[in-house]
Formats: sequence, C-alpha cells, structure tokens
Amino acid sequence: LRALKRVVQFGTVGAVGYGAYEIHRKRHPHEQKPFDPTKRTVVVLGSGWGAVSFLKSINTDDYNVMVVSPRNYFLFTPLLPSCTVGTIELRSIMEPIRFITQHKSRNVRFYESECTDIDPESKTISISDVSDIKGAVTNTTIPYDYLVMAVGADNQTFGFKSQTPEEVDRLLHMVVVGGGPTGVEYAAELHDFLKDDLEVWYPELADKFRITLVEALPNVLPMFSSQLIQYTESTFKQNKIEVLTKTMVKEVADKEIKVMDANKNIVSIPYGLLVWATGNCPRPLTRKLMARIKDKQTSPRGLLVDDYMRVAGAPDMYAIGDCTFSKYAPTAQVATQQGLYLASVFESLARIEEGQNKKITPFEYSHQGSLAYIGSDKAIADLPFLNGNVSVGGVATYVFWRSVYISNMFSFRNRFLVVGDWMKSKVFGRDVSRE
Ligand code: FAD
Ligand code: NAI
Repeated sequence: LRALKRVVQFGTVGAVGYGAYEIHRKRHPHEQKPFDPTKRTVVVLGSGWGAVSFLKSINTDDYNVMVVSPRNYFLFTPLLPSCTVGTIELRSIMEPIRFITQHKSRNVRFYESECTDIDPESKTISISDVSDIKGAVTNTTIPYDYLVMAVGADNQTFGFKSQTPEEVDRLLHMVVVGGGPTGVEYAAELHDFLKDDLEVWYPELADKFRITLVEALPNVLPMFSSQLIQYTESTFKQNKIEVLTKTMVKEVADKEIKVMDANKNIVSIPYGLLVWATGNCPRPLTRKLMARIKDKQTSPRGLLVDDYMRVAGAPDMYAIGDCTFSKYAPTAQVATQQGLYLASVFESLARIEEGQNKKITPFEYSHQGSLAYIGSDKAIADLPFLNGNVSVGGVATYVFWRSVYISNMFSFRNRFLVVGDWMKSKVFGRDVSRE
C-alpha cells in the first residue's frame, strides 16, 4: 500500500511538473531566425492533421516555411461530434497555429488566407484574405520552391440542398445520412445528449425524440470487423436508434428526404434535423489543380501521388492527407504519418543539397487500429495484434478510446481543456445554449 501511495505521489508531482513546463513553454516562444533568402521556400497549404504533423517535424534551419490556411488553428476532428452536442467546447479542441509556428527555430510566416489557385508551371500560388480584419491587399501571389498540399477534402453532398423544419414530431426526428464513422459517432453523441440531458429537462417530449441513421450499403462501418458491426447495430437498437441499411437518399427537400429502400421503393422520411455525413470529395482548389495537370491526374477522387508523396504531373509539389487519393483511407492517422514522413524527406533533401549521400525511401504506413464511439459510454476498437487483429467493444474500450484521444491531442492545453469539459458535462450536464 505504501509503495502504491508513493507511485501516486510521484505520478501527481510528475503530472503537475509536466503541466507547468508545458504552460511555460507555450507562453514563451523562442527567439526565431529570420527568413533566409539563400534557403528554399516551402509553402504549406492547410493547418489540419497533415500540415501540422509536417510543420511540427520540418527542420526550419533548412528551409523558409510559409503556411497558408483559412483556419488559423488546428482542429482535433475526432472529438468534433462531441462539440456538436455540448459535451466539449469547440475551443478545447482548437490549437492556435501560432503555438506550433512560433516554436520553430526559424520564423514561419502564416497567411490566414485561402489558396485560390496554383500554377505548377510558374510555381506560384494565388491567395485570398478571408479573415475578418482585412488589410489593403486582399489577393496576392506567392512563389514557392516546394509546395505541400494538405488542404483536406470537401463534404460530399452530391449537389443536394438541405433546410430546416417546423412541426413537433418532425422537428424531433433527427436523421443522420451516412453510416461511416462520422455518421455513427454523431448519432451516438446525439443519443447521449437526448438521453442524458434533453429527456431530463423535457420529459414530456422523451417519447418523441427519434434518431434514424440511413446507410446505402448493407451495413454501417464497413471498415470495422463484422463482429463490431453487429455489436454497433445491436447497441444502436438498444438505444432506440433506427438503422436503415440498404437505403439510399435520392432527394433532399425542406422537410423530408426521399430514399430508395431495400425493396427499391421510394419512401419519404420527414425530418427536423438532417445531418449529412456521406464522405469526402476533393476541394475546389484541388479540383482546379487536377484540371491543370489532367493528363497525369486521372482520378476524380483526389490528387494522385507517388510513394514519396510527389504530386503526379507537378514538379516539386507534394500532397498529403485527405486531398490525395491513394490506397490509404482518408484518416488523421494516415495524414499524420504522411506529414512526419514528408518532413523527413525534406530533411534528406537538405542534406543531399549539402553534398551528403542520403537515400530517400518511400512512405510506409503503419496502421495503429480503428476506434469509434457508439454511445452510452461504449466504444469499439479493431486493433492490430501480433500478425492479426483484436476486436473489442464496450465500456472498457470507451475508457481506452478516451485515453487514446487525450494522448493524441497536440498540446497539454487541449488535453487540459477537454478533460475539464468532460468533467464539466458529467457534473453539470451538457450546455448548448446560444451566446
Ligand atoms: P484537414 O485536417 O481537413 O486539414 C485541411 C486544412 O486545409 C485545414 O486547415 C483547412 O483550413 C485548410 N484549407 C482548406 N482549403 C484551403 C485552401 N484553399 N487554401 C489553404 N488552406 C486550405 N481520422 C482518424 O484517423 N481517426 C479519427 O478518430 C477520426 N475522426 C474523425 C471525426 C470526424 C467528425 C471527422 C470529420 C473526421 C475524422 N477523421 C478521423 C478523419 C480526419 O479528420 C482526416 O482524415 C484528417 O483531418 C485529414 O487531415 P488533412 O490534413 O488532410 O486535412
Ligand atoms: P465514409 O465515406 O466513411 O462514409 C460515408 C457513408 O455514407 C458510406 O458508408 C456511404 O455508403 C454512405 N452514403 C453515401 N451516400 C449515401 C446516400 N445518398 N444515402 C445513404 N448513405 C450514403 O465517410 P465518413 O464517415 O465521413 O469518414 C470519412 C473518413 O474519415 C474515413 O476514412 C473514416 O475512416 C475517417 N473517420 C474516422 C473516424 C474514426 O476513426 N473514429 C471518425 C470519422 C471519420
């Protein structure tokens, strides 16, 4: 018992020390070297998983680095569904980009702008200021020596338009379209919100809240093992989330969607809230670039890159993450590993330029497993083990899910805020009141 006490004491002192160090480090950026005209300039488009992973690792002693992104923060997307129902504050999962760029050895220039065009021939990009505070120049052109595309992907809406509703029954019917991990996790969070909070405050409406998940394929979560798919579907059934598989949305109107059901009949489903989660498609900028080099960019689903992350048909241009189309799934795990890999490529390129003999090896992905939250404090996990796979689900997996996400967050600050939000919502309930 005494030994255990000692371990707890050491652990507490360690955690407090780590926290104090992280806070001090965050609040005191280094003195940075200025831009060096003799160095090559790497322009990074984006501030998401791929870009931030690259930025954290790139050695700015070797390059001038510029970042262009309309978001001046990194967003920890895995916890985004929790924000929609007030479990976690959106700010807790945002990491200001300055906390990353201002800790590099050389000044990293950040443009809170959208890149609107790329000219691979002249090696320039056009950017447009999208911030609220506009200076005299709102559009400009920036040359690059190397370009890193990490612009993510757009929402695949298949051109449908959606709107908001009126009557009570319809209003309280919440329909989620798409049974991939985004749709499933969202339906799960929505269920928890209705069950833990709304039903307590509005018991007279408890029977009227309904959640339906619509999926075109024969089952949800096709990337998970069959036993976890079954476990998810039975947990949803217990939680009274209706899962309509083999059901494809064909039309979206103001107050209803039209679906083709498993028997090929067209059926109307009225909704109050419609959440669209049917996967990714390339952003307009990515499409524009692909059109420019269309003889080499032959896939409509994203930028084709080789095993070294080089964009086919555009010299000195690299792409990572969701803006690419490759054998890998568009996940944070892949984007992060690609960002890290690319930083190591740039390190080697710098050494090669100095005359050293360095070999650049192709990117190799190491899958760390798949996790998803399915509601009522349960999660599922497919984890690689030895040469096989272990599939687990339940409350213990949920504790594991939380600890994995907390340890994967980019900063101590984010960890602190998210844990605080989890505790806050457990004690006081979720808060989605408008400011
Ligand atoms: P993003 O992270 O989307 O970043 C793109 C960046 O580009 C953004 O900063 C954006 O502002 C910027 N940008 C956009 N347009 C322009 C432009 N024209 N010019 C300049 N910059 C631009 N994956 C997992 O592995 N595990 C999970 O648990 C997981 N959970 C998820 C949950 C949700 C709700 C969602 C939506 C996704 C989840 N994913 C998860 C997938 C993961 O978030 C993506 O695969 C990952 O974000 C891809 O990283 P990225 O850097 O390619 O793009
Ligand atoms: P997705 O592409 O994985 O799933 C979209 C689903 O929508 C598909 O199952 C598709 O059949 C369905 N669909 C498409 N059109 C439809 C229609 N008209 N009617 C009904 N259903 C329709 O997209 P998602 O879930 O956004 O995931 C994108 C990427 O992000 C994936 O690679 C995923 O692995 C990753 N991600 C991972 C998470 C995790 O690991 N926990 C969480 C969220 C996303």
